[in-house]
Order: sequence, then C-alpha cells, then structure tokens
Amino acid sequence: MPDPSPGGKTPPRQPRSALRTSVVWEVLKDALDRRAKVRGTDSLDVLDTGGGSGSFAVPVARLGHRVTVVDPSPNALFALERRAAEAGVADRIKGVQGDVHGLFDVVERDGYDAVLCHGVLEYVDDPAEGVRNTVAALRADGTISLLAAGLGGAVLARALAGHFTEARQALTDPAGRWGDGDPMPRRFTAEQLTTLASDAGVEVGAVHGVRVFADLVPGVLVDTEPRALEALLKLEAAAAELPAFHSVATQLHVLGEKRA
Ligand SMILES: C[S@@+](CC[C@H](N)C(=O)[O-])C[C@H]1O[C@@H](n2cnc3c(N)ncnc32)[C@H](O)[C@@H]1O
Repeated sequence: MPDPSPGGKTPPRQPRSALRTSVVWEVLKDALDRRAKVRGTDSLDVLDTGGGSGSFAVPVARLGHRVTVVDPSPNALFALERRAAEAGVADRIKGVQGDVHGLFDVVERDGYDAVLCHGVLEYVDDPAEGVRNTVAALRADGTISLLAAGLGGAVLARALAGHFTEARQALTDPAGRWGDGDPMPRRFTAEQLTTLASDAGVEVGAVHGVRVFADLVPGVLVDTEPRALEALLKLEAAAAELPAFHSVATQLHVLGEKRA
C-alpha cells in the first residue's frame, strides 16, 4: 500500500480484515517463532486442518514454513492453490482433500511441529474426536492453535440487535444456536474449548477472546474516524487475554502444546 505521509514515515494502514485475524495472527506468529527456535530450524512442518482457501496457511508459508492444508472442499483447495501461487509460496503449501475425522487417511500421525484448527470445530460431527486427531498429528511438545465461535459473543450480538428471545435461546441451547435460522451449527464457551483441548492431551498455554468489540461497533465509526481502526486493533489485543472478556468474544482462541 502506498504511504501517503510526507517522507513516508507513517506506518501503512491495516486493512479492515485485520479485525478478524490480527489477534490470532500475532499470537500464532510468536508461537511459531518460539517453536522454530526450540527445534533449531527456520522451517517448521505445519498442518492446517480445515484450512480452507488459506487465510492462515498462506501467511504461515510466507514466514518460511511448510504447510499442509487438509480440507474436504475441492473449491476451497482450488482457491488455496491460486492464492498460494499469487503469494509466491506454492512450493511450500500442499492442499489435500480430507476430513478431520479421517485425518490419518491423508496425513501422518506425530508428523507436525504445529497444527491449526481454525473455524472448523463448529462444523464437524464430533468436536472431541476432531481435537483428538489434530493433537495426534503433532510431534511431542508441538504447538496447537484452536479457534472456534464463542457462545457469549453471539448472545450479546443477538441481544443488542433487539432479538432478546433468540439471545436467550442461544444461552440455553446445548449447541449454543439462537434458532433454526442460525447459520452456525455449534458454539463454545472458553471452558468447553479448553476442556476439549485438555482432554485430548494439550497443555493449554493461553486463551484469547477474539473480536470482543469489533462486531459490535458500528462500521461507520471505524471507517470514517482517522486512526480508529488502529486504536480498535490495539484495544482488541489488550482485551484478548483478559478472562472477563472471553465470555463476550465472537471467537475463542486456545493455544497450547501437546503434553509429552
Ligand atoms: C469457516 S471455514 C475456516 C477456514 C480456515 N480455517 C480459516 O480460518 O479461514 C471452515 C472450513 O472447515 C472446512 N470443514 C468443514 N468440515 C470439515 C471437516 N469435517 N474436516 C475438516 N475440515 C472441515 C470447510 O470446508 C471450510 O474450509
């Protein structure tokens, strides 16, 4: 992006999409750096289960890592291939058609330094088995990054939109859905997600609330106020690790390591 400031001193503005990805991306990038140092290598083996069209896989490959994306959708894998080529990382990304439940039909057990499972547990038949398989794909001490829809964020959003009955329905529904028209098959509390990880053999290192404010703030405030986006990104980053905000986040992120 061209720098509009005289002398080019202003840092480039973040795109609005950073509100969806920046908290998780910063945490993930640090975790991969740490894992690479521990392993004494610049290039880790990373598995992205349900990696779709590569919104995380491509940036991870740009860091120099080798990424395998497993996804059941041929369209997503096609888009991934195109995106990887455009980013110049086609040689470091492999797309494989497969499912988290049949993961070891297509990838090796104990074969990866880091495994991502972002935005997938909401859709799978058995989230506990999904997490167990992602953990089983890790080498000892490997890093796991789980991201899933948060229950509290959806309840708050429905309530603030005036849909009070739907908000209450989501609170009591076992899958955290607000009704038949809810496009999300399942949501999680921070406790449910950390329990899934821990039961699967993960030492949970950190939990982050993602998009605590971003989905509640009128877009016009972010788009018209100079520097509002940067300030909101900093606020999201500051609130992400505070447990008080986990219960109202749109998404929850769990970072951990496979227990030896
Ligand atoms: C919301 S997208 C998330 C994509 C990507 N992980 C990201 O963060 O941008 C959900 C992805 O999960 C994939 N998916 C759905 N069911 C799955 C399953 N049983 N096993 C693996 N992936 C699955 C879909 O094809 C889709 O690409």
